[in-house]
Amino acid sequence: MNEHVDRPVAPAGQPRFLVDSYLDWIAAEGVPVVEDFCVDLRRVETRFWPRMGADGAVVHMKGRGDFISVFLVDLPPGGTTAPLRHLYEEIFYVLSGYGATTVEDADGASHTFEWGPGSMFAPPLNTRYRIFNGSGVERARIASTNNLPMMMNALRNEKFIFENPFAFTERGGGESYFGGKGTLVPTHGNRQMWETNFVPDMRSFKLNNWSARGAGSANMVFCLAEGTMHAHCSEMSVGTYKKAHRHGPDFHVFIVKGEGYSLFWHEGEDYRRYDWHPGCVFAPTDMIWHQHFNTSAEPVRYMATAYGSSRYPFSAEKRRIKLGVDVSVKKGGAQIEYTDQDPRIHRMYLDALAKNGVQCRMGEFLDEKMLLGETA
Ligand SMILES: [Fe+2]
Repeated sequence: MNEHVDRPVAPAGQPRFLVDSYLDWIAAEGVPVVEDFCVDLRRVETRFWPRMGADGAVVHMKGRGDFISVFLVDLPPGGTTAPLRHLYEEIFYVLSGYGATTVEDADGASHTFEWGPGSMFAPPLNTRYRIFNGSGVERARIASTNNLPMMMNALRNEKFIFENPFAFTERGGGESYFGGKGTLVPTHGNRQMWETNFVPDMRSFKLNNWSARGAGSANMVFCLAEGTMHAHCSEMSVGTYKKAHRHGPDFHVFIVKGEGYSLFWHEGEDYRRYDWHPGCVFAPTDMIWHQHFNTSAEPVRYMATAYGSSRYPFSAEKRRIKLGVDVSVKKGGAQIEYTDQDPRIHRMYLDALAKNGVQCRMGEFLDEKMLLGETA
């Protein structure tokens, strides 16, 4: 399963082994840490995190892999973070509240942009930034995916990571990228990637159809602040679900809009079902089959983050996923086509829809009898 396990701690004076420098650093920071398979980020307890200058928490998903983790920033009305810069990438996603972020880029120019629920932004690597809650009455809660686990385990030096003056001038993107504009870049097949530093609202961002991943499915891949960190946004239309697939750990899925559930299973195991709503995050563990289902009367949207982007995949595993994520296992890919799916999956979905009074629309895309196992 490759889930994270408790580490043996060497008694004082004994040789140290199996050290995780990132977890040691987190323990020394003294912030609340939550670890689970699926977490509702709106309910995680936060506490003052001196380095951040604001309330915060750390969220470790069971399927987070070796490179990334999630931090929470929780700002009171009118509150602000301390000015921060660091040698790790970070993709912020606004769960609730309204405010602004100021980024001082590598050329010394200052950029300020306003965000709200559903916004996503990434300060370019090692730029100084500060996050402000612009409301006088409402708290603001923001989740960030970051690759500090990878950086801390590789470098093992807090000062080098947090007090490094190096300017990565090639990562700016300029004023328009901080203002919510971007560039549509073709990738492979008919797919495209949106290059920017800031997406004002992922709930309404225009996506492209991607029927190879499921009936009524749409998607956009993002390249944020010319980073190595990946993000994408996917939509499932009403009355539909995606095809099951599997891959290595570290994809973190944040529910942005709508309600539904996901099934998880290893070969030969029973399905594990997790129901979710906006604010939930989960990360499929190593090579676990997973499949997402929309049970609400509105389209579902989720964003996913990972280490290794479409432009900079970083690992051989990510290069493979980019090209094979929508290819049938029968053709060497990692996806179970609808025609090969267990009929129990569709029946379970119909039951879930009936409870919510929502009509199944899978029949508009393919033969429902086939999904129910009623045809040869
Ligand atoms: Fe996945």
